Formats: sequence, C-alpha cells, structure tokens
Amino acid sequence: MLKTQTTEQISGHGMWSSKLAFILAATGAAVGLGNIWRFPYVTAENGGGAFVLIYLGCIALVGIPLLMTEILLGRAGRHSPINSLLQLARRSNASRTWSGVGVIGALVGVLVLSFYFVVAGWTLAYVWTYAVELVGSHAFQDTPQAHFDALLASPARLLFWSSLFLAVSVGVVAMGVEKGLEGSVRLLMPLLFGLLLIMVGYGMASGHFLQSVVYLFEPDFSAINGNVILQAVGQAFFSLSLGMTGIMAYGAYVPRDMHIGKTAAIIALADTSVAILAGLAIFPIVFAFGLESTGGPGLIFVTLPHAFAAMEFGNLYALAFFTLLAVAAWTSAISLLEPATAYLVERTSFNRPVSVLIIGGSTWLLGIGSVLSFNYWSEFLLWGKNFQELIEYVSTNIMLPAGGLLIAVFAGWIVSRVIVREQLADMNDDLYQVWRVLIRFVVPIAVLLVFLVAAGLI
Ligand code: PHE
Repeated sequence: MLKTQTTEQISGHGMWSSKLAFILAATGAAVGLGNIWRFPYVTAENGGGAFVLIYLGCIALVGIPLLMTEILLGRAGRHSPINSLLQLARRSNASRTWSGVGVIGALVGVLVLSFYFVVAGWTLAYVWTYAVELVGSHAFQDTPQAHFDALLASPARLLFWSSLFLAVSVGVVAMGVEKGLEGSVRLLMPLLFGLLLIMVGYGMASGHFLQSVVYLFEPDFSAINGNVILQAVGQAFFSLSLGMTGIMAYGAYVPRDMHIGKTAAIIALADTSVAILAGLAIFPIVFAFGLESTGGPGLIFVTLPHAFAAMEFGNLYALAFFTLLAVAAWTSAISLLEPATAYLVERTSFNRPVSVLIIGGSTWLLGIGSVLSFNYWSEFLLWGKNFQELIEYVSTNIMLPAGGLLIAVFAGWIVSRVIVREQLADMNDDLYQVWRVLIRFVVPIAVLLVFLVAAGLI
C-alpha cells in the first residue's frame, strides 16, 4: 500500500524542489554562527594549531560519514526523525526504543537553539548599530570592548534582539521547508563567502597574516589533552549540525536520485572552508591590534569592529557582514527547530505553525536563562560555568557526539543492510565498505574514546 503512494504523501511535509535545494538547505544548516562566531573563539581557547588539526580529522573521519548516515536514514524513513527511526527499527526487526535517539535529538535541538538565538540576537544588535552609524549618528561611541560589554549588561536589549531573531526563525519554519529557505540560501551564502574573502584580504594586508596561518596550522602537540580533543569533536558536530537529527529531518525531503556521498562531501567542504576563512579573517586582527586571542564568546564582536573602524567604508562592510551572519544563523536555527516541529505535526492534531510556535516558545523560555547568564546570573556558577556556558558545553560537547554515536551504531549494526545499501546504491563497493567501516567501528569507538579521555578515565 505504502509503495504505491508518492513520497510526498508519505512524509506529509513536502519535498525539496531539487537536489540543489537540499544542498543549499543543508549547507545553510551547517554554516552559521558555529563557523564564524564559535570556531575562532573555541580555537583560541584551545591553543590554535593542535585543536584545528584534530578538528579537521574529525570532519573527515567522523563528520562526513555521519552526514551521509543522517541523510540516508532520513531518506529511507521519509518522516520526522523520531518516526523515521521508529519505522526503520520496525522494518529491521529491532527494538522500537531506537526512536528515543530521535527524541533526544529533538530536545538537543531546542537546547542548542536556546543559546544560539541569544548570540544571533547580538548580530542583529550589531546590524542595527552599524545601520545607525551609516546614517551618520554615532552609535559606536566606545571602544569595541566597551560597546560589547554594554550590550551584554542589558537584559532588555539582549531579549529584544534575540526574540526578534527567534520570531523570524519560527515564521520561516511555519511556512514549511520549500518556501522561505531556498531563496535566502541561494543568494546570501555566496555573498557571505565573498565578504569573508574580503576580510581575509584585509587580514593579509595587515601584516599579521602569516602569524595567523602559523597559529592556526602549526600543531603544538604538547597542547593536546582530553578536553581539547572533546572540544574539537564537539565543534565538528556543532559545525556540521550532526548528532541532533536536523540533517536527518532534511534528508526526509530529499529526492530519490541524489548521490548522498558526493552531497555530504560538498556540504562538509563548504562548511569547513567558511570556518577556516573566518579564522584567517579574525586572527590577523587579533594580532594586529594586540587583542586577547582568548577573547571568549565575544571574540568576533570585539575584534571585527576594530578592523571595520580602520577600513575605508568600514561601516558598510560591517553592516553587510553582520546582516549576512544573521542570515546564516537563521538558516541554521531553522534546522534546530525542524526535528521537534516535524514530530509534533505528525503526532498531534496541531498544524505546522502551531507546532513550531510551541517549540519556539519553549526555546524562548529556556533562552531567558542564557540572556541572564551575561548579566544578573553571571556569577551563578555550576562546575565553574554559568547557565549559558553549561548548556552550550553539555549540548555541544556531550549530547551531540553521544547522539552521533547512537546514530552510527543504529545505521551500522541495527538497520537492515538492504535498506542502507539501497540508499547508497550509486556508491561503488570500495567506498561503500569504507563508509561501513567508519560508521560501524571508527565513529563509535572514536567518540567513546574521546569521552573516556575527557572524563580522565584513560
Ligand atoms: N551548524 C550550525 C552552525 O554552525 C549550528 C547547529 C548546530 C545547527 C547543531 C544545527 C544543529 O552555526
């Protein structure tokens, strides 16, 4: 019966209009604050080169195979991640508990978004500041550091901008996967890429470019410890949006004839290039202005304004840059909302707009904790971390890799091989075997080892 229905009817969520549409949407999900805001500051906090090396290793050995896996499970299941996993478990005569991986994924999406939308709010606040600056009144009166500190000190401003960001994200998801997303990604991603290149060019001219290249790419192996490895793995998962079933949700809307291996490689390459470009744009400025290279989450919001202030037409570049960053964050935020929303649509009588409103509302409530972490609650520490840092650490470094591990075990050991091979039918045998070894052994063992090392047990 099901076979005679079209896939559109099965999923009930619509389909991407083409292969390119999926590539753009998935790249949009991957490229975001993780590349431009998080990658540089986490790299700085973890000492540079050694971290980057492990990060790149993770992208190749863990990231690409898992990216393929999430897409293929989504396309094989054709439902929200929770129900796709449930169906695949059933078809493979396995326990239905595997759908729990989807439940965790949907929750992790909400957790990640609860701090993500707050940081995205910073970008909107900067868009406003530079827009005002452009029309001539001086919004940026202080040093970049003082300006940034003043923003963080104001819960009202933070809440205003972040709520605006979240409201737009909820609006786009309410409209469905086909509308809203494709156009913005198609046009704006290349623009963001171009602007980053200009910033890298500026960095080259600053005289500190080589120092930055050395900093990013010369590994200091003595700097490696369990925590650095965990951070690199967490960053790889975060940047590629893995482990929380967002890509699986998008995979459900993918056309049958798309080559999953190639697509995954393209997405990973685009995502990694943006992160590296961001690093090459930001560190020359850090060194040129003698700023703290361990600037924490505020790094780009303090370093880049220094450069913009010194550049000709700097305000215009700044306006363009933060606008594009906000758009990149939007296309990621959408993928964080999608798994939980798609599930509510399937399981309840709520329609898509109501479902996403419920998920967005819960995210917003949780996000208030992150907003307050930058001011009233900043001294409120648990294990040395404030509320926002704790949510970021646990969701990114622990829950995403743990989700990835479970997804790998499910695809590698539990799902029937026929289902998997059918999804990767256009892949030659050798590559298929490589993928299988990576997903059955390398990914689970690597993530497990990293956990044990980070916990100090090895
Ligand atoms: N990958 C996104 C970024 O780099 C963030 C994200 C993380 C999105 C996890 C979905 C899931 O900004």
